[in-house]
Amino acid sequence: MHRFALIAAASFYAVPAIASETTFQQVKIDAGETLFEAECRRCHAVDATGDSYGPPLENIVGRGAGTYENYDYSIALEASGIVWTEAALRAWMEDNAGFMPGTKMRHVGIADRTVQDFILAYLVSITTQDNSAISE
Ligand code: HEC
Repeated sequence: MHRFALIAAASFYAVPAIASETTFQQVKIDAGETLFEAECRRCHAVDATGDSYGPPLENIVGRGAGTYENYDYSIALEASGIVWTEAALRAWMEDNAGFMPGTKMRHVGIADRTVQDFILAYLVSITTQDNSAISE
């Protein structure tokens, strides 16, 4: 009886812990989407169907820089040879012109790590393709 109570108690606590982690992740994605709408959406669609002045950002995490088909990139970006890892995306959001001199993306300058975290969570959520082959 005693042992049963212990197991019951353990599983009772396990469930809310998992649920809150999922909730936390969803809250980050939702906040990231709102921030993306405010900071990035006027130039970037998230798939090929939306109007996009800059390259659409679908599957951006792990994507090779300058590889969106038929987009007219700057020479700097196209020749950079980098892959959009989370670290590279942070550096880009923080100071894109400093990170890659010659880019034609207007400077954004998001230095707040929390804001970067949220936008990254959203960018991960719109990355549905496995890009690991090129990010290695
Ligand atoms: C004023 C318009 C504008 C805004 C705002 C903007 N971008 Fe860009 N972005 C561009 C342009 C233009 C390019 C192409 C740059 C080049 O070719 O040098 C670009 C390129 C990029 C790339 C490289 C994509 C690739 O295919 O290699 C990423 C990643 C990116 N932007 C992310 C963001 C994020 C995240 C935000 C918001 C925090 C943002 N951008 C805000 C215009 C913008």
